[in-house]
Amino acid sequence: MPSETLTVTDNRTGKTYELPISDGTIRATDLRQIRISPDDFGLMSYDPAFMNTASCRSAITFIDGDQGILEYRGYPIEQLAEQSNFLEVAYLLIYGELPTKEQFETFRYHITHHTFVHENIKEFMRGFRHDAHPMGMLLGTVGALSTFYPDAKLINDARSREIQTHRLIAKVPTISAFCYRHSLGLPYVYPDNDLSYTGNFLSMMFKMTEAKYQPNPVLEKALDVFFILHADHEQNAGTNAVRAIGSTEVDPYSAVAGGIGALYGPLHGGANEAVLRMLREIGSVDRVPDFIKGVKNGERLLMGFGHRVYKNYDPRARAIKKAADSVFEVTGVNPLLKIGLELERIALEDDYFIKRKLYPNVDFFSGLIYEAMGLPAEIFTVLFAIPRTAGWLAQWLEMTADPEQKIARPRQVYTGQRRRDYIPVSQRG
Ligand code: SDX
Repeated sequence: MPSETLTVTDNRTGKTYELPISDGTIRATDLRQIRISPDDFGLMSYDPAFMNTASCRSAITFIDGDQGILEYRGYPIEQLAEQSNFLEVAYLLIYGELPTKEQFETFRYHITHHTFVHENIKEFMRGFRHDAHPMGMLLGTVGALSTFYPDAKLINDARSREIQTHRLIAKVPTISAFCYRHSLGLPYVYPDNDLSYTGNFLSMMFKMTEAKYQPNPVLEKALDVFFILHADHEQNAGTNAVRAIGSTEVDPYSAVAGGIGALYGPLHGGANEAVLRMLREIGSVDRVPDFIKGVKNGERLLMGFGHRVYKNYDPRARAIKKAADSVFEVTGVNPLLKIGLELERIALEDDYFIKRKLYPNVDFFSGLIYEAMGLPAEIFTVLFAIPRTAGWLAQWLEMTADPEQKIARPRQVYTGQRRRDYIPVSQRG
C-alpha cells in the first residue's frame, strides 16, 4: 500500500523529509522543517493569487471545474434550480440539510420579520450622491448596519450569530432596493410580508402608486432561480474576503461588507455589468469579429468568459441561459442577445479560447436577462450580492466553528532593501 507521504530531498543539504499527504494536500507549515541551518526560518510556499492553495476545509459547496459540476451540500445545482426555492437553498447552505416543512416555515418567518431596516438607514443613504453606484451604496450601508446591532460583536454566541444571519439575509434585499430607488429619486418602498422573498424584492424595487404590488409570477420565479444559482461558490474572491475579515472576530456585517467590496470588482461579480457594457459597445453582430480580434490581441477581455476553477461550461451559465426563455416570453427578447450568442458561438469554436479553456461563466447571460426585466446595469452586481449574502454567511459560520481557523495572516517574500541609515533631507539629492 503506497504511503500517503511526499518524500522531499533538499539538494542544498542532501537531507530528506517525509511530508504527510491528506486530502490531496500537504500542510504548508510542514515545509518549515526544511532548513539550511538551525537559525534558518525554513521553507514557505509561495502562491500569489492562491492559484494552488487550499485556505480551509469546507463542506458547503463542491465544484469540479473540469466536469462543470456544482453542488450545494451535495445537491446538484440543476436539481435545486428546478425543484427548490432560494430561501430553502439559503437554509440548506447555512444549516447543512434541506429543512422539514416546520423548519422552513420557521426560517421563512424569521427572514420575513427582519426585512425592515432602522429608519436612520434612510437618513444615512440620503447622503449618497444621486448618481452613486448602487454597489458603493450597498457596501457602505451594510457596513453601517454593524453600528445598529452592537450585539453582533458577540460572534462566539450561537444565538447572536443566528440572529445576525437572519437579519442580513432579510435586510440586504431591502437596502438593495433602497439603493435602486435612491438612484431614481423615488421614495423607498417598505417590505410587504405577504410576498415571497423575490416577490417582496420586486415590490420594493418597482411598486409605484398601486395599493399593493403584484409581482409577475414568471419574473418572480426566474429571479428566485437566479438567486439560487448565485448563492455560493466555495472560496471565490468575495468569500475569501469575508473569511479573512471574519477571522479577526469582527461582526458579520463588517465581514459581509468586505465581501461586497470584492464582488464589486469587474473581474468578479462586477462582470455582469461589464458584459452588458461590452455588448452595447460592440453594438451589432457584424462587429463581433473585430471585437474578438481585439481580445485575441490581448487588448480586451471577453467579459463573462473564463473562470479560475471552471475549465468547462459554467453550469450556472447553462441554467441561466435556459431560464432566459421564460423571461423573454414576458419581456421580449433583449436585442443584445444576438450579439451575445454570436460571441459565444465564435469563442466556443476559436482555438484562442479553446486552448485557454475559456467558456461562458455565470455573468455572461445574467445581465441580458436583468436588462430585459427593466433593471439598469448598475444594479446587476447588487443582484449578485443579495443571494451571495447567504453563501457568505454559511462560510462565515463554518469558519467561526472551525477549530483549525485563526486570524488570517499570510507571510511574504521580502524584495525590498535592508538596513539603510536615515539621510537628513539636506543631504538627499
Ligand atoms: C465570477 O471564483 C469564482 O467562483 C467567481 C464566481 C463566483 O460565483 O463567485 O464564479 C463569479 O467572478 C465569475 C468570473 C466573472 N469575471 C469575468 O467574466 C471577467 C473576465 N474573466 C477574466 O477576468 C478571468 O477569466 C477570470 C478573472 C475570471 C479568471 O482569471 P484567472 O483564473 O486568473 O485566469 P487568467 O487571467 O490567468 O487567464 C488565463 C489566460 C490568460 O491568457 P494568457 O496570459 O495565458 O495568454 O486566459 C486569458 C488570460 O489573458 N483570459 C482571457 C479571459 N479570461 C482569461 N482572455 C480573454 N477574455 C477573458 N475573459
